[in-house]
Amino acid sequence: MFADSGRLHIAIQKSGRLSQLSRELLKDAGLRIQNGKNDLVARVENFPIDLMFVRDDDIPTFVSDGVCEFGVVGRNVLEEFALGEAEPRYDVIAPLNFGRCALKLAAPRDAGYAGPASLDGKRIATSYPRLLNRYLSDRGVSAEIVKMNGAVELAPRLGIAPFVCDLVSTGATLEANGLEPVETVLESEALLVRTRKPLSPAKADLAENLMRRIDGVLATQESKYIMLNAPEAALQRISAILP
Ligand code: PRP
Ligand code: ZN
Repeated sequence: MFADSGRLHIAIQKSGRLSQLSRELLKDAGLRIQNGKNDLVARVENFPIDLMFVRDDDIPTFVSDGVCEFGVVGRNVLEEFALGEAEPRYDVIAPLNFGRCALKLAAPRDAGYAGPASLDGKRIATSYPRLLNRYLSDRGVSAEIVKMNGAVELAPRLGIAPFVCDLVSTGATLEANGLEPVETVLESEALLVRTRKPLSPAKADLAENLMRRIDGVLATQESKYIMLNAPEAALQRISAILP
């Protein structure tokens, strides 16, 4: 659809844990993004770049196919996709310092979970069947994986499966559903990915420029600017604690 356009396309999550911070990263990199929160596309005013707002699970496909030259996506979504591919058709350029979370196995608080062997012969609901399958077979556990596209935490209460494997960041969703995390399947964070499809010279230059800018943002994040409201008397003790 965009093959003949001279513009670069960056896929970011339309709505969810990465959307806002993905936009902010690109703004910090100097991209002036035109407004229109509900649009599927936003033009960048000062570069020939378009942002595409899509479902996170579609981002690896779009970047692999070269429909979008870049994408911002969680390692969880990317690895789940990669396990279904013969060969990667994208490169991971950099971790982006936000969107940290983990794919975890969780059990009802009263389940008496005692290690992966407790999962043997049981049903586990998840949106990440490939990652879960790899985790289980690495441990010699055979369980039945039930694929759900959302509301995975409801599976035990609905009688769909006694265990779940889902993304956890604050842990509030598990907590609210009477579940506790028992195993970590994958640590995740937001990643910048780039297609392996060759780019025209003009697009390749723009891609380099974009990556340098994002690199610059990440470099400045390493030194943090902290503002505190504290009594002057505490100043010495505070600076002793800060690195
Ligand atoms: C995940 C997951 C939980 C929630 C957990 O969904 O499916 O519902 O986040 O977060 P918490 O530990 O902070 O409560 P996400 O927002 O990633 O949406 P998606 O899986 O539908 O893309
Ligand atoms: Zn999703």
